Amino acid sequence: MSRNIHELIAKMTLEEKAGLCSGLDFWQTKPIPRLGIPSILMTDGPHGLRKQRQGSDHLGILESVPATCFPSGSALACSFDRSLLKEIGHALGEECQAEHVSILLGPAVNSKRSPLCGRNFEYFSEDPFLTAEMAVSHIEGVQSEGVGTSLKHFAVNNQEHRRMSTNAIVDERTLREIYLTGFEGAIKKAQPWTVMCAYNQVNGSFCAENDVLLDTILRKEWNFKGFVVSDWGAVNERVHGIDAGLDLEMPGNGGLGDAKIIKAVQNGSLREDVLDRAVERILTIVMRAQNEQKSHADYDRLSHHHLARKAARDSMVLLKNDDHVLPLSPTQNIAVIGAFAKNPRYQGGGSSHIVPTELSDAWTALQKAVSPSVQLLYAQGYSLDHDDVDEQWIKEAQDVARQVDVAIVFVGLPERYESEGYDREHMRLPQNHNQVVEAVCQVQQNVVVILQNGSPVEMPWVDQVKGIFEAYLSGQAGGEAIVDLLMGAYSPSAKLAETFPRKLEDNPSYLTFPGEGDRTEYAEGIFVGYRYYDKKDIDPLFAFGHGLSYTNFTYHNLTVDRTRMRDDESVIVRLQVKNTGDRPGQEIVQLYVKDTVCTVKRPEKELKAFEKVMLGPGEEKTVTMTLNYRAFAFYDAKSADWRVESGEFDVLLGRSSRDIVLRTQIYVESTTAVPRHYTRNTTLGDLMADESASQRLTSLMAQVKQAGGLMDALQDAPEMAMAMMRYMPLRALVNFSQGAISEEQIDQILQDINNLQ
Ligand code: BGC
Repeated sequence: MSRNIHELIAKMTLEEKAGLCSGLDFWQTKPIPRLGIPSILMTDGPHGLRKQRQGSDHLGILESVPATCFPSGSALACSFDRSLLKEIGHALGEECQAEHVSILLGPAVNSKRSPLCGRNFEYFSEDPFLTAEMAVSHIEGVQSEGVGTSLKHFAVNNQEHRRMSTNAIVDERTLREIYLTGFEGAIKKAQPWTVMCAYNQVNGSFCAENDVLLDTILRKEWNFKGFVVSDWGAVNERVHGIDAGLDLEMPGNGGLGDAKIIKAVQNGSLREDVLDRAVERILTIVMRAQNEQKSHADYDRLSHHHLARKAARDSMVLLKNDDHVLPLSPTQNIAVIGAFAKNPRYQGGGSSHIVPTELSDAWTALQKAVSPSVQLLYAQGYSLDHDDVDEQWIKEAQDVARQVDVAIVFVGLPERYESEGYDREHMRLPQNHNQVVEAVCQVQQNVVVILQNGSPVEMPWVDQVKGIFEAYLSGQAGGEAIVDLLMGAYSPSAKLAETFPRKLEDNPSYLTFPGEGDRTEYAEGIFVGYRYYDKKDIDPLFAFGHGLSYTNFTYHNLTVDRTRMRDDESVIVRLQVKNTGDRPGQEIVQLYVKDTVCTVKRPEKELKAFEKVMLGPGEEKTVTMTLNYRAFAFYDAKSADWRVESGEFDVLLGRSSRDIVLRTQIYVESTTAVPRHYTRNTTLGDLMADESASQRLTSLMAQVKQAGGLMDALQDAPEMAMAMMRYMPLRALVNFSQGAISEEQIDQILQDINNLQ
């Protein structure tokens, strides 16, 4: 702590210290003018600025100042583009500086457990490695402008149903490997100024007072330096919270929490130095924000809009392109069908909802992009306000589709379907959207569907249409971006950051989401997203990592700089990627690792590295990726640490999780001695599987044999004898040897084995 902050704390009264630990109002911290401590302003987040003008709410209802609306998290992650995320971060930071905002409430990095979570549109991915990489770049970008971020919602906030009380029951390995990894990577690599704790409970303790999460893991293990802020209204017991490591309560509540803190310090149930610790963390950031605030900052609205357009273009996933229906040729007559073409769904509902500086729609953009000789027709197709099928509108859609060469149908999820605050109940599109697609397919062979939604949907018409673009919620420039791609000004380059299952029932959380009462069992464990579909060999509609381009890429010359390594070393993987088509394009090369043999169940493969590479026609580049310890490790709950088991690992390079093109193997040798915890009830099979332990058993087993008894009786059934022995606990040898082996002998052997290095 700097001397200055020490001195300030020494001068503060108990009331001032407690007061600093809760907001002044909905968005600001409390100033202490007599000590020169300013107030700082926080606002949402994550993909645009929601600075409210008058009135405050955390549901995105009241007006905010115009700001650039970038694509939401679920879209941006499909870009797999670290530098794009960083550039957006910079832009957001500039907008914050211009509006005197010190902390932007984002990024949101919760994992996508179920496609139904109402807030999936804000979250990046079902894969924690990709999530972490996206978050790191976002944070680095924003913070390089002298503006803080708030990594949220820590942790295991994967549903909106009962979001303020639900208790996520999740085992330690799953917690570490799936639900915490995104946070861990972001904190270790990018040190966000703040972390926002989630509303829910994890394993029986509210995140706002969960000392395992807030202290043991966040601060002690990951070395987080900033302050923890509550999600808006997440505090359960204020004093427990401050004890556990929740520093700032938001929003302000008229001093109710402060009074509890003061009382607790006065009656000795809260140590004053624990309060000082929270004050110190808040003050450090407040002072930093003050130092880094620029007095005359502004930003270029137009260039931010251009950046939003590039981001949208690079985030839209071409899911299907049969017969090269896309890109459209300049002479084709086009029918544009669907109200979303004129009134796009471009952002999500709730606290991230912002007022854009401008808004493009595909219909207007297309009119500008095509030559005047091209026939461009429009039909609304469905109502924006309800799901009922209107036969007249369906007929109109068919009429325009009949007259042209290609029909572009815009469908998706209206805002009433998905938002912060509630989850979806099913994965279907509104029936009037599905109906219009099917009706158009009856009269037109060349149908391209553009989807605008925050999370996967079922596609009953998937085999009837030739082209599908998943545009997600693509921000204020999404209309122009989709036209850039449709007309072939750019080649699509994004890949899915989540699996699209064929039907909801295929999803691993189907039986337990969103839980019963306040309890949600994460029974599928680590098998989330593609980790599950791969393991169960279930064909998804579209796989994690899938996405097409207008050009083609080949992969070759895969090399590793070593084929054996110790787990404290790293390996460099290289391959050549070539653009074999005739237009420029970007390819996302994905590297997955598979543990070939392991004592615990592991996924078929896990994403451990990726690179996005830009290639001109015919161009070839070398892509280089590095793998270290964590690429091979699993979380071993017994030793409470990450662990690599010696053995062969497959290194798989692919265009998607289901399109592996090249593979090689590497032997990784573990350098960690595995602590032994053998007991009298450890089975002989488990002991025999441990090479050094099994050596100590040899003489014991000879003694058992000599003693005869059961072993003699089993002589004629050797398989049964083997099975009996394998599953027999060590202690049973005493009885079966009819006392020839003593209890003391067993204890001695156990002591020897457990002490082996
Ligand atoms: C949301 C947060 C948001 C906060 C402030 C809460 O309801 O969960 O993500 O930052 O409100 O608007």
